[in-house]
Amino acid sequence: MLTPAENALLTQTNAGTPMGEVFRRFWVPAMLPSELPRADSDPVRLRLLGEDLVAFRDTTGAIGVIQNNCPHRGASLFFGRNEEQGLRCVYHGWKFDVDGKCVDMPNEPAESDFRQKVKATAYPAKEWGGLIWVYMGPKEREPSLPQYPWCLVPNADHTPVAKWMQESNYTQGLEGNLDTSHINFLHRAFDRPINTRLSNSAPMKLIVLQTAFGFVYGAKRQALEDGRYHWRLTTFAYPTFTAIPGPKLGGCFFVIPRDDETSWWFMIRPLVNQNGVPEPDLSARDPYKLLQYGRQVFDPSLTHEPGSWRLARNGGNDYLIDRDMQRRINYTGLPTNRVQDAAVTESMGKVYDRTQEHLGAADTAIIQMRRHLMHLAEALQRGEEPDLAAHPEWFRQAPLEVVSLEEDMPTLWEQHHAAFLHEFAASGASTDAANARA
Ligand code: FES
Ligand SMILES: [Fe+2]
Repeated sequence: MLTPAENALLTQTNAGTPMGEVFRRFWVPAMLPSELPRADSDPVRLRLLGEDLVAFRDTTGAIGVIQNNCPHRGASLFFGRNEEQGLRCVYHGWKFDVDGKCVDMPNEPAESDFRQKVKATAYPAKEWGGLIWVYMGPKEREPSLPQYPWCLVPNADHTPVAKWMQESNYTQGLEGNLDTSHINFLHRAFDRPINTRLSNSAPMKLIVLQTAFGFVYGAKRQALEDGRYHWRLTTFAYPTFTAIPGPKLGGCFFVIPRDDETSWWFMIRPLVNQNGVPEPDLSARDPYKLLQYGRQVFDPSLTHEPGSWRLARNGGNDYLIDRDMQRRINYTGLPTNRVQDAAVTESMGKVYDRTQEHLGAADTAIIQMRRHLMHLAEALQRGEEPDLAAHPEWFRQAPLEVVSLEEDMPTLWEQHHAAFLHEFAASGASTDAANARA
């Protein structure tokens, strides 16, 4: 349970809020490169951390992310004309480059230096690991790009990534990603045996270990007959990245605030496995199948607003729940994990009132995540910058699923982490961030 003040601290991320400042110390994923497919392609609306922005790609292919409202008199630059090295407001013709500099002001006298005095808010944006990242913090603190392992492999640009919008505060989705115990309920299909790997019928111990990048959350299940334990270690990196163990690094998710009531989701299938070995790119075969992302779940033609990234099944249509399916087929009457997760976490309300909740032992990782994020926000208010932002190499990590005789979580993690880093370096993955495309 949180107090009203803690709930506000955790959930509010607009400019000037303590948690908003935390997000503004990191590069955050914001778009897919395919949304800006080529030089001078159409401008795209982008709402991020409560700010209305417009993204475009200039004539050289560089990405600009600038304020939505034209600095002259506020017309939306979404309607702008993307021409030779800049975006021109169609109202009176002011033109801005990717850095927000006003490069033309045709309705003012030629001798006027007014143009020099006007600047649009613009944020740096880069392509990296199959995503477009944006940094919205102080210029002098701009960090290097985070060295998530999948961003460093030779085929990083082809990393399969799915994106969608969820209609609730970022914390609700994030908490679902850190919550093992829902899997055999929410995601249960009656014709599938209970997943004994994840089953709550086996006594389970949850252990949380603080790390340089955030924390690792380990679930240890009872010893098998031969005395070994079944371990699942999920990693969490600030501000909101979770990597859930499974084949091919399992599920890697970012949940990024769009504003306080909606969030952007990015689901990534890294082209590197939990042992640090790069994997081939199979996305060309069928990226949606690869992401188990069926037509019924997300189909741009079914969304209410094109480009909104709203799930076709959403709160407005009760996710098209099928009560007969719920009786006979699965718990929810909803297809796929994505819809099931969205339905329950959105149904809490846009910003859940955490003064009303009752947390149990199964919620340990959620409690830790909140504490860590709130500590980060409070420390930043005192002027203590997050160390992680200055250490992009600390993002190199991977979750783990293993059956092992090891009883001690810190030992298991350290061995896995060291072996992962060693193998990853030996595999020939790039070791610097120089290949980021600005
Ligand atoms: S409002 Fe954009 S140029 Fe006037
Ligand atoms: Fe889930």
